[in-house]
Amino acid sequence: MNNIQLYQAELLEHYQHPKNYGVISCPDITTGNINPSCGDAVSFTIKVTNFIINDIQFQGKGCVISMATASLFTEFVKHKSMDYILKLTAQDMLNIIKIPLGPTRIRCALLSLEALQSGIQNYKHQ
Ligand code: FES
Repeated sequence: MNNIQLYQAELLEHYQHPKNYGVISCPDITTGNINPSCGDAVSFTIKVTNFIINDIQFQGKGCVISMATASLFTEFVKHKSMDYILKLTAQDMLNIIKIPLGPTRIRCALLSLEALQSGIQNYKHQ
C-alpha cells in the first residue's frame, strides 16, 4: 500500500465510522454549508471557551470526501483558536486530508472549512 492508498483508507474509515458525529446541546455556534451543485450538506455545533474550540460535533449527508473531511476536521480543530481556523486555506485542507484532489472534488473538502469559518465570523461579530 502506498501513502495515497493509506490516506484514502484513513478517509474511508472516517466516512464509515465518523468521529464527533452528533449535536451538542446549548452550542455557542451552529453553522452549516451546502454544496449547491450536488446538494450535499454538513452542519456543526460548537462549544467555545475564550475563543478556543472546546468541543465540536457534526452531522451531514454527502459524498465520501465531504463526510470524511468533516469527521477529520472536527478532530483537527478541537482546542484550536478561532483566529487560527479563520486563516486556514484550501491548501491547508489538502494538507489535512493528505490526498490530491481536482477542482471539483476540492469543493467537497472545502464544505466544512467554509461552514466553520462563516460560523466563527458570525460569532465574533455578534
Ligand atoms: Fe457533493 Fe462531494 S459530491 S460535496
